[in-house]
Amino acid sequence: MDINTEEYAAHQDAQDPLSHLRESFIIPSKADLARKTLQPSRERTASQDESSIYLCGNSLGLQPSLTRKYMQQYLDTWASKGVYGHFKEVEDSNLVPWLHVDDDCVPEMAKIVGAQPSEVSVMQTLTANLHLLMASFYRPTKERYKIILEGKAFPSDHYAVESHIRHHDLDPANAMILIEPESQSTPILSTAHILATIDQHAAETALLLLPGVQFYTGQYFDIQTITAHAQSKGITVGWDLAHAAGNVALKLHDWNVDFAAWCTYKYLNCGPGSIGGCFVHEKHGKVEESQSGEPQYRPRLAGWWGSSKSSRFAMTNKFVPIPGAAGFQLSNPSVADTTALRASLDVFKLTSMEALRERSLKLTQYLQDLLDQLAKEQGSACFSIITPREPEQRGAQISVMLKSGLLDAVMKSLEAAGVVVDERRPDVIRVAPAPLYNTYKDVYLFVKAFRAACQQASQDGGHGSSIMANAGKDERGWSEVK
Ligand SMILES: Cc1ncc(COP(=O)(O)O)c(C=O)c1O
Repeated sequence: MDINTEEYAAHQDAQDPLSHLRESFIIPSKADLARKTLQPSRERTASQDESSIYLCGNSLGLQPSLTRKYMQQYLDTWASKGVYGHFKEVEDSNLVPWLHVDDDCVPEMAKIVGAQPSEVSVMQTLTANLHLLMASFYRPTKERYKIILEGKAFPSDHYAVESHIRHHDLDPANAMILIEPESQSTPILSTAHILATIDQHAAETALLLLPGVQFYTGQYFDIQTITAHAQSKGITVGWDLAHAAGNVALKLHDWNVDFAAWCTYKYLNCGPGSIGGCFVHEKHGKVEESQSGEPQYRPRLAGWWGSSKSSRFAMTNKFVPIPGAAGFQLSNPSVADTTALRASLDVFKLTSMEALRERSLKLTQYLQDLLDQLAKEQGSACFSIITPREPEQRGAQISVMLKSGLLDAVMKSLEAAGVVVDERRPDVIRVAPAPLYNTYKDVYLFVKAFRAACQQASQDGGHGSSIMANAGKDERGWSEVK
């Protein structure tokens, strides 16, 4: 069967053992996206409104249907029980008393990142967690003070690293080592190149911080090899897993990662700005008693929520950290956030990361194959793929570099066709078939709309502007940086 047909896509979806997971999500309709108001449209049937083609889970994941139900339970508990909500069970709620909401999410979250439950905590937000973790893991000495990161790191990571260096009265000009691509023509960083950079600075380097999956190119780094190599040179290794958690099957414990942090609003579908996740390897989370009876533990920035539950309300001002990642918590978590997380995890529970990754590899390959066909068909193609072509070196995202000047017009056409992807100016669009809810049909319809968008943009000489393009020009430059 010709892969470039709706029949083929429908056939693949029908065969796919995980395609039913899409039913656990609310897919915005094309009319929803076009409308300038909210509409009580949740009661509508799917047939009333055609679904959009949403391939933007790398930026903001879609809402699980359970989220609304659990949020309502949370609001009802707060409304009817007030402060009792902290500790009293509510029999007809799916949620635990608020005192335990973080613990309740941890075992499932740990499975998603391949960790032991004690190695994971649900806390704060991604950049805040990177700061907290670096406060504990970046302890520069006269000999070892450098931090290695990528030159094109997500800006927040760059700022976080730079500010830690300055915080220690060091100079980023020599303490911050930026890994740049070997050649101008590709933004990919090969493992060999990363290892060579580590070797070059090994003796002075304290910390390596890299992304599991790179936000711009979609490159999935070889976390195990890079971690082992850097550690063999005495370097501590942390990972930003914003684009990896819920996307690829991680094994943070087995890979001996020192620490990691991620957000939950991309592939973990918990809503914009929702709570973050932290991993601290068990070897770093121990709390031991010294001969004097004082607890011995890794230095950190502390808060009451990281102190043992028995001490939390004793108000003795004696910090006794909970062993493991939970001992790095600061504040009582937002229950609105953990409620959204609970809903998301209840969807992840229906499968495993291994099964999702298997599905995702096929779906992303289908996207690459159709794009390759389109490029051939176009002759001199109006785009090229910058994501690694090897399936094991990428997650669910393919980044497409358009010919200069076409981006606005292409985005405008896609938007008009009810296709949601995101852009990185000046020329890149990122297309992410999310493993949980996207389908072969989504991918097929995207490529069809993209073909028309490229044709139109090339004919018009690339004029036009879209909501996303305009958003990219606002003060926050949101669509450019997420
Ligand atoms: C790779 C990466 N790091 C850091 C961040 C910043 O996340 P937050 O705003 O939750 O701190 C993002 C946000 O999208 C990201 O993609």
